[in-house]
Amino acid sequence: MIIAVDGPTASGKGTIAKRIAAHFGVAYLDTGLLYRAVGRQTAMNGGDPDNAADALAACDFPDELMDDDILRSEETGGLASRASVHPGVRKALFERQRAFAEQDGGAVLDGRDIGTVIAPDADVKLFITASVQERAKRRWLEMIAKNIADEDEIPLSEIERDVVNRDARDISRKDAPLKAAPDAMIIDTTSLDQEQAFEAVLEAVQERIAAS
Ligand code: DC
Repeated sequence: MIIAVDGPTASGKGTIAKRIAAHFGVAYLDTGLLYRAVGRQTAMNGGDPDNAADALAACDFPDELMDDDILRSEETGGLASRASVHPGVRKALFERQRAFAEQDGGAVLDGRDIGTVIAPDADVKLFITASVQERAKRRWLEMIAKNIADEDEIPLSEIERDVVNRDARDISRKDAPLKAAPDAMIIDTTSLDQEQAFEAVLEAVQERIAAS
């Protein structure tokens, strides 16, 4: 069983995907981490993530980088979004994601193009979204909770701008843009808390599995 979970930045798709994987006892991959590793490795090489050759050269990042907390930073998210526009980068990361999806026992993958490119054959496709304002607020509260920033240091409006920019880049890129697969179930979590969002998604997944 393959479950594809796509959606924009800070939609809560990662938390939901992880819980869905645990619920069904299948493996989970946050594919954003692969792009984050490429973006970070590009910067560590002294390269520019907007440059296709620099980003491609960073695709052989060491596996240990995937466990580095630096990948979770806002800055790395921006580097990842820039590095991910290059078709060569997406091609270089394809096999790894495809092999993960096809493993025995099933898998949940979250990202931007899982239901459209990596696993168009997924048994269940979800597209998790929420309004820009709500996603920015969640990201901001998370940063404050994790002591990454305090309220005065980073205004909410700055996070909102970052979310809008990231959406624009992810949606407008030519290769594998962020979009819901035609057969994806779209779940808007704007007015749901984490528990309600998980329940809504679980119900949708169970319905889809029962129907197939
Ligand atoms: O999900 P995330 O915020 O960790 O992703 C960081 C960036 O990586 C995102 O802005 C675009 C890119 N990405 C992608 O292009 N395709 C994916 N499947 C996952 C992430």
